[in-house]
Order: sequence, then structure tokens, then C-alpha cells
Amino acid sequence: MNITIRPRRLRNSEALRRLTHETRVSAESLVYPLFAVEGSGIVSAIESMPGQYRYSPDEICAKAADCIAAGVDKLLLFGVPKHKDGEGSGAWDDDGVTQNALRSLKANFPKLLLIADVCLCEYTAHGHCGAIKNGELDNDATLELLGRTAVSLAKAGADIVAPSAMCDGQIAAVRAALDAEGFSRIPVMSYAVKYASAFYGPFRTAAASAPKFGGRGTYQMDYGNSREALKEAALDVSEGADILMVKPALAYMDVIAKVKAASNLPLAAYSVSGEYSMIKAAAKAAYGDEYALMLETAAGVYRAGADILISYFAPELANAVRRGDL
Ligand code: PBG
Repeated sequence: MNITIRPRRLRNSEALRRLTHETRVSAESLVYPLFAVEGSGIVSAIESMPGQYRYSPDEICAKAADCIAAGVDKLLLFGVPKHKDGEGSGAWDDDGVTQNALRSLKANFPKLLLIADVCLCEYTAHGHCGAIKNGELDNDATLELLGRTAVSLAKAGADIVAPSAMCDGQIAAVRAALDAEGFSRIPVMSYAVKYASAFYGPFRTAAASAPKFGGRGTYQMDYGNSREALKEAALDVSEGADILMVKPALAYMDVIAKVKAASNLPLAAYSVSGEYSMIKAAAKAAYGDEYALMLETAAGVYRAGADILISYFAPELANAVRRGDL
């Protein structure tokens, strides 16, 4: 008897396709980044990121309510202060822009999971991620400032702190500072694998945080390297990271897969501003279908191995999950 084996696509019906679908996305794994500014009644459009805004503490609560309604209850907060200085002192000011947004969100939505970015570039006049000495980032002087910032954010209500300055030793420094101040239960999400990327362009416009001299190439990673990503991830694990992150996502799917295979920690991927704005621009020019591009890129990040996706499309993605499109 001759049997012909035919490969079946398992797509005869939507139910069959969904039964055998490999990449299942849950809205619970989505995180939405938000930009906080000072004042009240402010919702200011970010020109470089159509559909994204900077919010004052009252308005950020209205936006959070929308996110919760869409099924997203995890936020990543960035502060954009009016006044920046040489040190970036606004970052660890207990009355600072991010601290006030955190307090306001916590008071109104106690169940929200609030992740606070820990970096100085939004707060320094020069736009670098830490203290500067002789025209260069002073790694060790920055560690103490990042620790101070993390403690201040935890005090204001952050449930997770996420150091993103790419300074050597920043996870250990932040962990030690938190523990010393009674915040040992606050986890650290490490931007362990953060490339020096042109995809951060729209964010730097949003936060007015582009470096005024030089670039971030001396502390962020070279995009030609992936073994270095494993080294960075291993170091952060040894320093006490609780969650690892790869950033950006789209051009780094192989890195996501490698870090996932090499570590047992939950893995987040950050689909950054340039990834978002690129899809928005393509859709605006009618070069592509925004919804389809959004779904396909998000599915790719999960397929590569991410457990958590940080995305400016998070509320739309949660809606897509509910509809069964993702
Ligand atoms: C802070 C930080 C940046 C981003 C996240 N945290 C900016 C940078 O490194 O220049 C970029 C996020 C995005 O592009 O969406 N260091």
C-alpha cells in the first residue's frame, strides 16, 4: 500500500489554526511606556511619535484608566522635567516629575504595576546617562546617583525599578541602595542588553534627552555584537537582576532568542520609539497596513522568546489579543 504523506497546514478552520498556533500572546505580558511632565491639565503631543503624549500627573491618571480598560495594567514611566542640570538632580528629587506621577498613579490605581526607568539622561543638561568627567561618562560616580534615584522612585511608589544607564555595576549598586533603605522586596528589571541604536531617535525628541556632545557608544552596546549580549546578561544576573531586557527588539530578534536560551530569568523586549514611529510613518504614507505591521512585529518578538513586551502599541495589542488577532 502506498501512503502519500501530505504536509498539512492545519489552517482549515480558524479553530484548528488557533489550536495549533505556536505563539500565544497574553495581554498580561504587555507593558506600556508613558512620559510624565510637571503641571496639571497637560497632554502634549510628541511630534516624533504620532499618537503618543506627555502627561501631567492628573492627566496621566486619565490615560492609565484608558490603559486598564484596554487590558494593560503595567506601565513604564519616564520623567521629562522642565529644568535639567549638570548632575541630573531632578532624577532623585523626592518631589520630582516621575515621583509625582508615580504617587498620583498609585493613589488612584493601587493595583497598577508601576515600573520606573532609572537613568539620568532625561534630567541632565548634557543629555548623557550619568555624571561627566573630562568629557566622558564617569561610570563609578554615576553608580551612587543611580542608587539614590532608584530609592527615591521606590519611595514614591515604583513596584519595579529599571536601570537603563548601561553603567558597569549599576544593578549591584541599585540593589544595594534599595536593600539599605528597606526596599529589598522591589525587583530590578535590568536593561541588560541595550544597544547604541538609531531607533531611540523619537524618544530623545520626546524626552529632550539627545546627548549634547558625543554619543552613547562608549556605554551602550555595538549592534554588531551578540556574544557580548550574553556577557552583559550574565553579569547582570550575577549582580542580582530579577528580570532581563533586550532593547531594541525588531533588529535584535536573534539576541532575544540567545538571551532567552542562556538565562532562566523572565525576559523582556523593548520595542522602542523608532520601531513604533516607523510603522506609523509607513501607514501614513500608505506603504503598509498599520494594524498588520503591528501584529506581525509583536508576534515576532514573542516568537523569538520574549516573555514580556514593552511597546507603545500595548493598548492596541491588548485589544488585538481580545479580538483573537494575536
Ligand atoms: C534612557 C532610555 C532611553 C530609552 C529608554 N530609556 C533613551 C536612550 O538610551 O537614548 C529609549 C526608549 C525608546 O526609544 O523608546 N536611557
